[in-house]
Amino acid sequence: MGKFTLTKLDEMKASGDKFVCITAYDATFARLVSEAGAETLLVGDSLGNVLQGHDSTVPVSISDMVYHTRCVGRAQPDSLIIADMPFMSYSTPDHALTNAAQLMQAGAQMVKLEGGTWLSDTISQLVERGIPVCAHLGLTPQYVNAFGGYRVQGRTPKEAKSILADAVEIQDAGAGLLVLECVPEVLATDITNKLDIPVIGIGAGPGTDAQVLVMHDLLGLNLRPAKFVANFMTRETTIQEALKAFVDAVKQGHFPGPEHCYH
Ligand code: KIV
Repeated sequence: MGKFTLTKLDEMKASGDKFVCITAYDATFARLVSEAGAETLLVGDSLGNVLQGHDSTVPVSISDMVYHTRCVGRAQPDSLIIADMPFMSYSTPDHALTNAAQLMQAGAQMVKLEGGTWLSDTISQLVERGIPVCAHLGLTPQYVNAFGGYRVQGRTPKEAKSILADAVEIQDAGAGLLVLECVPEVLATDITNKLDIPVIGIGAGPGTDAQVLVMHDLLGLNLRPAKFVANFMTRETTIQEALKAFVDAVKQGHFPGPEHCYH
């Protein structure tokens, strides 16, 4: 297939072809994600939950992320590798530049940051220096203590307006992709239609340009899965088949269904 690039993802948005992102944290699963045909792979700080056993992503450090990005990078997947910048690793533009450089040197092709307009300067400085940025809005898990729990965001007109304004501003600052998490379907579709950059949804309905799920969720390993999660693993399925089933379901428009959406 060859390596997926941001240019290819832009072309897919323009042609209306859905693309897929799956989290992976090591070389073996990175290879499986790539072989399943996912265009993008996220070394997510969700590793704090699913690998390290924490109840949030807050304890994850930059050295944890560098280690797992290196493991993933060694698999040389065709999928574009996006690495999460962990909590407080981008609290100032200088801090962000130093830490993002570590992730890029470990094998990432793009870094992901959670937050809105306050990140504009940081995003433009990273992009100017050759570090592509994926922004993350809506339910941003690093803000769990500020939000008072994992709640759907953008339900009121005021919140929805503010998320849309954030999305436009981070696009103008140079972000190349946006992850929208746990927002009403109608808001995610509106933002996707208004932005030029591709939008990857999770708990954001079928109207986004792409879908992402945490690997452990789609393999049915989460004991308390969120409403937006589907289990693609059955007794008869191999892990490879489950990953491919997720990729196919997104591309054919079968996932997410109405039961996975917020209204
Ligand atoms: O860390 C992660 O896995 C994520 C996804 C849930 C989008 O940010």
